[in-house]
Amino acid sequence: MNLKYQEVKNTLKKYHQEHLLVNYNNMSDKEKEKLLSQISEINFELIKDIYNKTKETITFENSKIEPIDCIDKSDLSKEEKEKLDSIGDEKIKLGKLAVVTMAGGQGTRLGYDGPKGTFILDVKEKISLFEILCKKLIQAKEKYGIYVYWYIMTSNENNKDTIEFFRKNNYFSYPKDKIKFFVQGELPMVSLEGKILLNEDGFIKFASDGHGGVFESMEKSGVLDEMKQNKIEWVFIGGVDNILVNMVDNTLIGLAESKKCLAAGKSVIKTNSKEKVGVFCLRDNKPSVIEYSEISDDLAELKDKKGELIYSESHILCNMFNIKRLEIISKNKLPYHIAKKKANYMNEEGKIVISDSPNAYKFESFIFDAFTSLESMVIMRVKRQDEFAPVKNAKGVDSPETAIKLYNEFYARD
Ligand code: UD1
Repeated sequence: MNLKYQEVKNTLKKYHQEHLLVNYNNMSDKEKEKLLSQISEINFELIKDIYNKTKETITFENSKIEPIDCIDKSDLSKEEKEKLDSIGDEKIKLGKLAVVTMAGGQGTRLGYDGPKGTFILDVKEKISLFEILCKKLIQAKEKYGIYVYWYIMTSNENNKDTIEFFRKNNYFSYPKDKIKFFVQGELPMVSLEGKILLNEDGFIKFASDGHGGVFESMEKSGVLDEMKQNKIEWVFIGGVDNILVNMVDNTLIGLAESKKCLAAGKSVIKTNSKEKVGVFCLRDNKPSVIEYSEISDDLAELKDKKGELIYSESHILCNMFNIKRLEIISKNKLPYHIAKKKANYMNEEGKIVISDSPNAYKFESFIFDAFTSLESMVIMRVKRQDEFAPVKNAKGVDSPETAIKLYNEFYARD
């Protein structure tokens, strides 16, 4: 114990983070042990590195950015589509597809205090985001006669509540052994001056490390191995908040297979240059996405001769990877993006600081940064009204109201 304490103290001194022990002496033995373990697990070199990057502005000037080709699903001829669909159908029937839903986020922007997937929408019936997704998988069972494995990525913050929600709802009548949960990684939050933050209770202030952590977490948690044992070939990875998401997509599988690509993504046309979606592009000849928070106005507003946006293939967080590729990606580190957040914390004198403006950095990796390691990727453009009804904000754009409208219109058309 003393040895561990001494070791931790030395590390903290080396990285100028000694304040992390400010509340140590007020803690019980068990709490002391927990804090020391938390500190021992921090990769201080990594944190130092990412923090130093906060001083650099992200710029695409050093990369060659170009539009990426995509295949418009509605341009496929009847014969082409049937051929692709039958390739996909076969794979799905043979149980070669698994679905991952990234549900590590909370419904903060929705003004909802809980795992985002447990948010209830009123679409003629009251139903949670998780159940809406599950219904899609039940429809796939009706079509293909097979229950697709459903992996749900949670975070430390919401894992317990998420699992409890599924249990309470009897797994929405989906077979329990086909639903698996795994937890995403975390990184400490850091003050604008580079100090790792403590929570109000004196423990390390961790935050989710972004959905780019999905690959590493799949590997570490054994999910990837399990998929291999189950002879899965394709893994669809999507978010939790798009209520028209099409996760079991035979055309997408058919397209990726026929183009011999190990990854595929879906896009919809951006409604306007300010829409809060990332856009697909080529970055130094590799597939990539420029996130809405990082694109310059000039690039976002660039138009072609017809007056249409050049960077308009919106990334709708519907991507699919071949398992062979996932194995490689899961071993590579992705870059971290930096977000400024409001954070209450315990300061270096052991006092609680309540902040009403952004005062801390949160570090996140994004799933689409894995695309740049791919030789190629198929992008299939789909119709917004068929596949994209996001629930992001409490009111206005991408709110429950707009998503419910799209959802009801879609099912009224069926
Ligand atoms: C995201 C995409 C954006 C895309 C838009 C489409 C990112 C960074 N951006 O934006 O390119 O155009 O969706 O709707 O994803 N999540 C985790 N763990 C995390 C962070 C997020 O599981 O650490 C999950 C959330 O639960 C959610 C999804 O990832 O299901 C999207 O995350 P969010 O942060 O809401 O991304 P957006 O800003 O909406």
